[in-house]
This record gives sequence, structure tokens and C-alpha cells, in this order.
Amino acid sequence: MSEWLAPDVIASAPGRVNLIGEHIDYSQGFVLPFAISFRTTAHIRRREDHVIRIRSQQRLDEEISSSIADLAPGSQGGWERYVLGVIWALGINSGVDIEIDGDVPLGAGLSSSAALECAVATGLNELFSLGLDKKQLALLTQKAENLYVGVPCGIMDQSVSLMAEAGSALLLDCRDLSTSLVPVDLGASDLELLIIDTQARHALVDGEYAKRRQACESACSKLHISSLRDIEMPALVASKKLLSEEEFKRAHHAVSEMARTLEAVDVLKRKDFAALGSLITESHVSLRDEYEVSCLELNCAVDTALAYGALGARMVGGGFGGSAIALAEQGQIEAIKSAIADAFKSAQFAEPRFFASLPSEGAKVIKRLDR
Ligand code: GLA
Repeated sequence: MSEWLAPDVIASAPGRVNLIGEHIDYSQGFVLPFAISFRTTAHIRRREDHVIRIRSQQRLDEEISSSIADLAPGSQGGWERYVLGVIWALGINSGVDIEIDGDVPLGAGLSSSAALECAVATGLNELFSLGLDKKQLALLTQKAENLYVGVPCGIMDQSVSLMAEAGSALLLDCRDLSTSLVPVDLGASDLELLIIDTQARHALVDGEYAKRRQACESACSKLHISSLRDIEMPALVASKKLLSEEEFKRAHHAVSEMARTLEAVDVLKRKDFAALGSLITESHVSLRDEYEVSCLELNCAVDTALAYGALGARMVGGGFGGSAIALAEQGQIEAIKSAIADAFKSAQFAEPRFFASLPSEGAKVIKRLDR
């Protein structure tokens, strides 16, 4: 393997969980995610040529080499496309060496890809003095994922990875990317948010995600609105006959989820965690029955958590596998974990993994080294 010199810039960015507001970022709704304590770090060195080298501490046997001239949206490859896509989207015209390290669980639906994109984008922004603000970086990293990697994701994951602050969830208005912080101090109320990685990875994810977006878009065109943000529930119900059954169910989820998210902000401010739990569970039911993005493993995790006393539980992220969250009293967490592990074993599902995380800070430059 070729020699790697010390980096000029080190930057890092976190993964996320979403408290509530699922599958509505691309319908211009409100979402309420927070950054988790697991992060991805990018060590970046500027080169004097146009070569791009990428490697990861998690895969030391592989070193990827490309060049600025070879950057092309839609190119084949693996995880390195998330890095190449960001270099492309930011219009970098110099070679770079990028070494990645991190502990965001991969494939768990906790946005390891956004963490990777945002760590690289934050580092490049600093190294090349691009002067991009967090909103611009969110749009560019989303562009990298949409166009370069070909994943039709919304704007939530990149925004929270960039804009989050420790101790708070981020209320993000996906229409204009304006934000406000909503303090979340579960510990002070003896509560914890348990993250359950079902380890289920159903292959349908990307295709089904795109179909959900299309159903929302076709509902909007039939309703003559530009996004589902532009309609209230009574008007949607009154227009039911204009939509197919599927479009109505998808739109019904989106419109009700937007209202639940705003209500969640209110109850969080009042520290009414029982009400927050109910909203979280209602979100799951809507994602399961109306948006149809849950799966057996996620439902099992949620139902078991609720049966063992959680105040609320739901799937998070895109669905069809990945993680669920359960809001519960600290004293009940161990019993919930072992009940879920037992239930998974009897159902012959993969062994679930459990994580806990306080709301953590967003992307940052850790170090700029002079040479
Ligand atoms: C994935 C996407 C996000 C968002 C969620 C569902 O995580 O990347 O943009 O749509 O699914 O809320």
C-alpha cells in the first residue's frame, strides 16, 4: 500500500435517530431527529495532483484510488461513492487523500452514510475555504447521495448530522431548512431512549422508498398542491375520492405525521413524556399500516417494548429493517432488552443489538494542521 502522510484537516459528523416525523422530509414536513454519540471522522490531506485516495480504518485491506477527472454521477462501486459524491458535489478540483474512521453502526438505519458524507463535506469545506454554511452543505451532501450514489433520500439525515446540538433534538422544517432546538433531557426524568437494531436488512429498501415518494407526488398532483405540507387533514379526507386507495393511505400518514411531530414538540416542552410516548407509538402504527414500511422484526421489537412497559416505541428511518426506538423508564430498560432478545430468538430472527445515546453535537472540524 502507498504511503499516507499526516492530514491537513480532521472533521467528524454523527449518525442520527429520529424521535418523530418519519417519511415526511420529502413531503416538506417537520421532523424531530437528534444526533447520536456515534460518529464518523474524516482525515483529509490536500494533494498536489488530481488523484483521490480513500481508505477506512474499518477496512484496512482496501485502498480506493480515483481521480478528479473520473468523478461521474451514477458510477458503480461501494461505500467510497459516498465520499466521491461529496467531492463531486462540492466541486473540488484538487486531489485529496481521505481516511475514514468511525463507530456509527453500519446498516442499522442510523444514518452511517449521512455521517460519512457530512464528515467529508465539513472537512473539505474547511480545507478548501469554501465558506459553505450548514444549509448549503446539507443540500450538497443530499445531492451527492441522490445523484452520485443514486439513493433518492430526503434532506433529514444530512441536516441533523450537520446542524444538531448536544442536549437537544432538532426541529427541522424540511420546506426551508429552518431549525429550532428542542431540549431533550430524558435522564432528568429517569427515562431513556433505547435504540434497537433489529439487524434485519430487507432488500426492498431503495425501490420501496422510491415508490412511497412517487405515491406522495402523484397524490399532490391530483390534489393540485406542491407538497403534502399544503393540505390539512379535513381537506385531505374530503378529497379522498380523487385519490387511489394507496395514494390516500400514504398521504394520510404524511399529513397525520406532520401534526404529530408538532404536537411532540409541545409535549416535550411540557415534559409530558407519557404523551410523547403515545405520539411515538401512533407514528409506528401509521408507518406500519398506512405507509407500509415496517417489517416483522420492527413490529416485534415495538410490540415487545410496549408489552414490557415502554411509554412509546416505533420504527425509525426508512424502514424494512434497521432500528426501532423505545422510550422507557430507566428501571425498565434491562427487562425490555431481554424480552426483545427472547422474542427475536423464538421468532428465529437475527440477534438484535441495543444502543443508547443522548442527543449529541453535529458535524465539526476537530483540527486544522498547518504544514
Ligand atoms: C431515510 C432517508 C431520509 C428520510 C427517512 C424516513 O433515512 O434518508 O431522508 O426520508 O428515511 O423518514
